[in-house]
Amino acid sequence: MQTNLPVGPYRAYRVFEGGQFGEGRLTTIGIDALDVGNVTVRALFASVNYKDALTALGKAKVAMRFPLTAGIDLCAEVLHSEDARYVPGDVVLVHGFGIGADHDGGYQTVARFPADWLIKLPAGLTAYESMAIGVAGYTSALSIDLMELNGLSPEKGPVLINGATGGAASIAIDILAARGYDVVALSGKPEAAAYLRGLGAKEVIDRHTYPFGTRALEKPQWQGAIDSVGGEQLAWLARSMRNDGVIAAFGNAGGIEFKGSVLPFILRGVRLIGVNANSPLALRTRIWQRLASDLRPRHLAQIARRIRLDDLPQAFADLYAARVTGRMVVDFAA
Ligand SMILES: NC(=O)c1ccc[n+]([C@@H]2O[C@H](COP(=O)([O-])OP(=O)(O)OC[C@H]3O[C@@H](n4cnc5c(N)ncnc54)[C@H](OP(=O)(O)O)[C@@H]3O)[C@@H](O)[C@H]2O)c1
Repeated sequence: MQTNLPVGPYRAYRVFEGGQFGEGRLTTIGIDALDVGNVTVRALFASVNYKDALTALGKAKVAMRFPLTAGIDLCAEVLHSEDARYVPGDVVLVHGFGIGADHDGGYQTVARFPADWLIKLPAGLTAYESMAIGVAGYTSALSIDLMELNGLSPEKGPVLINGATGGAASIAIDILAARGYDVVALSGKPEAAAYLRGLGAKEVIDRHTYPFGTRALEKPQWQGAIDSVGGEQLAWLARSMRNDGVIAAFGNAGGIEFKGSVLPFILRGVRLIGVNANSPLALRTRIWQRLASDLRPRHLAQIARRIRLDDLPQAFADLYAARVTGRMVVDFAA
């Protein structure tokens, strides 16, 4: 018997059948429509990610069923639990496991999830900070963890971050600069150079005017690179890495295909690491603990801002059009 559930209907941003890959809108759902799970939560904060914009605007096949509540992450308070690991009042993080794709996601005031998908908010982060970081920041932290395991260290040379004003990239710049790396930011928003330098970028390059070249091997410049863009920029990065340089690739904001040759890999030993945020629980627990301690971003106040659930349609349009700098966090109390 669930005693402390707020009486519905619950507000949600749902994606319905329509268009090529679905059409999203704000709506309400009743308690009978809550998705499967043995832990019921009240949403506190959820973040707005590029993938959410794709889902909401029906720009890619993300939604695997209709209707579906969008949102690939949330921080929430447990209201009711049928699993001994969680009790009412616990604050938990949920991302991955198909939320916002084939299970209802973060943009819903009350929701249900399987206990196996939850982790507790790590000590050292507030609920708001956890979603200012969100999946985007988690992915950047995981990338840095993997890059350092593959030999990256600050004295070896500069690290290039593309899509630099984006959510994931902003947090990557912040974390890497704090660890002593020379960070070079590549952005399509030259007007955001002061923001990027404020996060710790040593240099800001304008992607609209930069000569990327077309040779199989360009001048070796970067020891590390975090690629949230894909497409031609990933191809350029591979051509421009120094010997044993490490690229972490996780994004497709600039396209899903990239062309190139094997020469960077076989002649320069370039390491291309794919990064998928849908980590097993043990890894995600370890990375979140790092995000709350030695990888804690220092500039979340500059990177993230609060919006209301009602602001989501505009947020998706702006994010898809690359008009956003940093991250947006839905505050369910606003
Ligand atoms: N694999 C995973 O598990 C995983 C996890 C999290 C995120 N991701 C992916 O990582 C990417 C970034 O996510 P996010 O939430 O940080 O997105 P975001 O905030 O929208 O940032 C993307 C940034 O990329 C740049 N950009 C946009 N369109 C571009 C284009 N056509 N060509 C070149 N650059 C472009 C823009 O930065 P500038 O204007 O500064 O250039 C934009 O701010 C997305 O593709 C997302 O799906 C993947």
